[in-house]
Amino acid sequence: MYKILVQLLILSLPILCCSLPLSTRSRWIIDEATGARVKLICINWAAHLEPMLAEGLNKQPAGRIARLVAEMGFNCVRLTWATYMFTRFANLTVAQSLTRLGLVDAMEGIAVNNPGFLNVTVVDAQRAVVEALVRQGVMVVLDNHVSQPMWCCGEHDGNGFFGDKYFDAKEWLQGLSIVAKLYKDTSMVVGISMRNELRGPLQNASVWHGYMESGAMRIQKANPRLLVIIPGLHYDLSFTYLKENPLQLNFKNKLVYEIHRYAFTAGQTKMWLNNIFAETCNSVRQGIQRQAGFLSEGQNAAPLFVSEFGVKQVGVVRAENLFLRCFLGYLAEMDLDWGVWALQGSYYVKHGVHGPDETYGMLDFNWSSVRNPEFLQRLHLIQQQIRDPNSTCPTYHIQYHPSTGRCTRVDNNSELHATDCRNFSRWNHNGSGTPIRLEGTELCLSATGDGIPATLSRDCSSRRSKWESASDFRVSGGKQRWERGVFMLGVGLYSLIVKSFN
Ligand SMILES: *[C@@H]1O[C@H](CO)[C@@H](O)[C@H](O)[C@H]1NC(C)=O
Ligand SMILES: *[C@@H]1O[C@H](CO)[C@@H](O)[C@H](O)[C@H]1NC(C)=O
Ligand SMILES: *[C@@H]1O[C@H](CO)[C@@H](O)[C@H](O)[C@H]1NC(C)=O
Ligand SMILES: *[C@@H]1O[C@H](CO)[C@@H](O)[C@H](O)[C@H]1NC(C)=O
Ligand SMILES: *[C@@H]1O[C@H](CO)[C@@H](O)[C@H](O)[C@H]1NC(C)=O
Ligand SMILES: *[C@@H]1O[C@H](CO)[C@@H](O)[C@H](O)[C@H]1NC(C)=O
Ligand SMILES: *[C@@H]1O[C@H](CO)[C@@H](O)[C@H](O)[C@H]1NC(C)=O
Ligand SMILES: *[C@@H]1O[C@H](CO)[C@@H](O)[C@H](O)[C@H]1NC(C)=O
Repeated sequence: MYKILVQLLILSLPILCCSLPLSTRSRWIIDEATGARVKLICINWAAHLEPMLAEGLNKQPAGRIARLVAEMGFNCVRLTWATYMFTRFANLTVAQSLTRLGLVDAMEGIAVNNPGFLNVTVVDAQRAVVEALVRQGVMVVLDNHVSQPMWCCGEHDGNGFFGDKYFDAKEWLQGLSIVAKLYKDTSMVVGISMRNELRGPLQNASVWHGYMESGAMRIQKANPRLLVIIPGLHYDLSFTYLKENPLQLNFKNKLVYEIHRYAFTAGQTKMWLNNIFAETCNSVRQGIQRQAGFLSEGQNAAPLFVSEFGVKQVGVVRAENLFLRCFLGYLAEMDLDWGVWALQGSYYVKHGVHGPDETYGMLDFNWSSVRNPEFLQRLHLIQQQIRDPNSTCPTYHIQYHPSTGRCTRVDNNSELHATDCRNFSRWNHNGSGTPIRLEGTELCLSATGDGIPATLSRDCSSRRSKWESASDFRVSGGKQRWERGVFMLGVGLYSLIVKSFN
């Protein structure tokens, strides 16, 4: 059964992506052959829980899920896996795995939507999911999420750090090797995330150093094409210990560092709620720079991959809304590689409950459509490659409003609109106190008065055409100067973020 499945899939491999493998140059992930930038625009697809099977196969055919991934604008899936799946359960079939857990309901759904999966091993099921993604031109990053298959991540769940109950270093290295080798001939598998969210009482920077170096070397040896993605301590938060003591590896141009960010990261939920937004956002951004951003600067710069961030897609969680408003601005400005948490609209089983909903899911409970199109729209700007290190075009600016995910665009009647960021106008701006001019025209953005929409004017030298930034990171707070030039566009008050992009 499996053979047929895989052969069918391989026959029709289109080359939709870039030429591979990927490599790195300074802070950019690039196509090794041409040197052109390839931005990872990923979505996380969980496959590391007890059944050891990519979620959702009980709801929709794998090929349809993969198509939805591509249609939503993602070029990459961060597919999670458990070490034990390869080191202990590799011969278990999907049907056996589900039966073992009493997941009759999930099995019935899979029999309807993906019957070919039931009699193949959990490892072959992973390969079939990868092939489904590859057929859609979607790249895959394989993320070692846990050792013992289960929901992640708790401080004391036995999966947090080397030496924890389930986290045997040797077995982990063996797992990395097996997985890297398994995809030797699948060029669209572009990288391995070495371990999700290292954490817990045993974490220790010098132990981290030793194992990250051995893990990276194992992957490199097994499959030298792969990007090696290095996790930080404290739940993928911090790499400060690398400032004095960088990693020592005998290969280059394959290392990427990964961090995660949520509203609750580092216990900051209350901070978002209780403090002034502009100050909190500023301090969070500075924190990220201090803890990880430094890695993508300077002589030995490497790419920084925000491999998880996300919010409950119900639109009413205030701390998360504030976090997102701040963080989307950061991701756009830095133009980092990223992965949203998560694809799955539901789980086979989580914490013993069968079939629960995932409110962070980009897909709805039935895996049939986008859960919250408004949230997806907010990702449209960062789903584009904003900066191109090879570009010879002059710098321009994008006006982006992270609260709504809209960008400004001028139509052919010279009217200013806030629209979907797939189509924005380019602006020229020389810094605080100077005009903002529509690229290729003599028209400048001009304030008409508080609370009245800004217009475009030929008078670029007037006081009304001078724009000042409101704060360090140029998000206007309540009473700051950007607000003087506020313009109103249908859905409310828009302040400007003016960012410089190459
Ligand atoms: C991009 O620039 C780099 C470094 O200058 C160069 O090596 C590479 O060939 C360029 N790639 C393209 C596609 O122009
Ligand atoms: C799977 O089965 C093969 C052949 O019987 C055996 O060599 C291998 O050790 C088994 N793998 C696992 C992880 O049990
Ligand atoms: C799976 O295998 C079982 C037992 O070998 C067989 O009865 C069943 O028909 C198979 N199911 C599928 C979908 O191939
Ligand atoms: C970290 O591990 C090293 C080597 O095992 C050990 O010498 C050191 O004391 C540990 N540090 C902490 C803070 O536990
Ligand atoms: C999911 O599908 C079921 C059965 O077809 C349907 O009753 C339910 O309304 C759907 N739920 C959503 C959120 O689409
Ligand atoms: C982008 O906007 C311009 C100006 O309004 C319009 O002419 C063009 O068709 C739009 N392009 C897309 C892809 O929507
Ligand atoms: C300008 O707008 C008009 C009416 O909205 C439209 O018919 C025309 O095609 C547009 N021209 C260009 C060049 O986009
Ligand atoms: C920015 O400065 C350059 C060089 O002085 C000038 O040519 C350009 O017109 C200025 N742009 C704006 C929007 O003022």
